[in-house]
Amino acid sequence: MKINLAPSSTNLKTSKMDFISKELDTYCNDHTSPECEVLRELNHETHTSVLNPRMLSGNLQGQFLTMISRMVRAKCILEIGTYTGYSAICLAKGLPADGVLHTIDVNEELEDIAQKYFKKAKLEHQIVQHIGDASEIIPNLNLKLDLVFIDADKKNYPTYFDLIIDKLNTGGWIIADNVLWSGKVIEELDPTDMVTSALLEYNQRIQNHPQLENLLLPIRDGLMICRKK
Ligand SMILES: C[S@@+](CC[C@H](N)C(=O)[O-])C[C@H]1O[C@@H](n2cnc3c(N)ncnc32)[C@H](O)[C@@H]1O
Repeated sequence: MKINLAPSSTNLKTSKMDFISKELDTYCNDHTSPECEVLRELNHETHTSVLNPRMLSGNLQGQFLTMISRMVRAKCILEIGTYTGYSAICLAKGLPADGVLHTIDVNEELEDIAQKYFKKAKLEHQIVQHIGDASEIIPNLNLKLDLVFIDADKKNYPTYFDLIIDKLNTGGWIIADNVLWSGKVIEELDPTDMVTSALLEYNQRIQNHPQLENLLLPIRDGLMICRKK
C-alpha cells in the first residue's frame, strides 16, 4: 500500500540537480561504508511502499550524518522532518548511550513505518517521535540542543532557525538540507517562488549572523552547516 504523503511538492528532493557526474557519485558511494541491514530494508520499503521516496537521505548523506553526530559528540539532537526515519536512525547511531534524538513530522501516516525501523535498529529508547507541525511543536520543547537537522518544508527554514537558535548550546550545530535547491539559489528569482526565496533568506541569515560560523557544502542538494560560537 502506498502511504499518501500529504504536504506539497515543496518538500520534494525530486528536483535534485547532479552537481557531480554520475561516475564520480558512484565512486563516492563505492568508497563509503555500506548501509547497515536495517537501513537497507528501510530504504527498500520506502521505495516500494511510500510516496516520494527520493526524500529519503540515502547512504552517502546518511553516513555523513552519523559521522557528524559522532564527531560533535551530540547528546541532544533535534530533527525537523522525519519522513520514514532514515536520517533519524543515521543521526541517532552517532549518539552515546545516554543521548536522545527528538524528531518531528507533520504526516501522521509515516509514524508507524518510522517507529518500526527505530525498533529494528534498537534505537527506539533514544528516539522521541513528535507528530505535528514543527513550528507548533518546537516552542514547547524544553531542550538544550547540541545538533539540529532541518529537513522539512523549505519555506519555513527561516522560521525554524528563529525557533531553535536560543535552544542551541554554545558550540552547538545546525545542518540544513537542500539549501542549493537544485541550483535555483543562483538563478534569477521568480518573485512567486516562495521556497527559493525562503532558502535564499535562510542562507543569507546564516552568513550574516554574528554568533555563527558556517560552511555550505555541495553534498547532494547542498548542506548548510553552522556552529554557534
Ligand atoms: C525531505 S522529507 C525528510 C526526509 C528525512 N529527513 C530523511 O532524510 O529520510 C521532509 C519531511 O518533512 C515533513 N514536513 C513537511 N512540513 C512539515 C511541518 N510543517 N512540520 C513537520 N514536518 C513537516 C514531511 O511530511 C516530510 O516527511
